[in-house]
Amino acid sequence: MATGLERVFNVTPDLVKDCYYIVNQTRPSEAIALYNTLREDVENRGHTLFLFNGAAFPLGFIKGQVLRTPDFKVLGGVNIQSKIDYLFVDKKYQHAGIGTLLLRAYESCCREQNVEQIILYSAPTVQATGFYTKNGYVRVTDNFLMAKNLGAISR
Ligand SMILES: CC(C)(COP(=O)(O)OP(=O)(O)OC[C@H]1O[C@@H](n2cnc3c(N)ncnc32)[C@H](O)[C@@H]1OP(=O)(O)O)[C@@H](O)C(=O)NCCC(=O)NCCS
Repeated sequence: MATGLERVFNVTPDLVKDCYYIVNQTRPSEAIALYNTLREDVENRGHTLFLFNGAAFPLGFIKGQVLRTPDFKVLGGVNIQSKIDYLFVDKKYQHAGIGTLLLRAYESCCREQNVEQIILYSAPTVQATGFYTKNGYVRVTDNFLMAKNLGAISR
């Protein structure tokens, strides 16, 4: 795993505060939701969380889950889907490759769990759409749902 990357299984109150800080810079309403669900999601619901750590504090994180019920809005006869719920990088450290590292870590973890397709609702910004397109995700509906078939790319 790349330096700075860490998979997290125990969510401390300090970690929730760090993630809140990162999300609150761009999406305050989603930051509030983290307080209610992050620990529960990771520790009790088996969601996957990766952090990218700076020298003193986290600079970004990704959280997602294998869906028990596939989202049939995405076509293609796929059985096991995973959804990215959050991918955020501290504003001061964006555009330095951290988002890509986090996404790759999440994708490898999905492959290990035999996930065939990753879906997500992208923010309707040039930044987020450009980022996901560059990483092989395609828009599948008008409401910013994007998807990537893991089987279609080399490992
Ligand atoms: C989208 C996001 C996660 C990308 O993370 P990042 O660490 O900045 O991404 P990377 O440095 O790995 O960037 C890779 C590509 O993303 C796109 N990108 C990243 N920042 C961008 C910016 N400010 N403007 C336009 N494109 C941008 C580019 O295509 C970039 O490729 P390039 O470096 O060759 O130009 C991050 O910018 C972020 O947290 N944004 C705010 C929250 C958000 O929209 N999250 C997505 C959840 S829907």
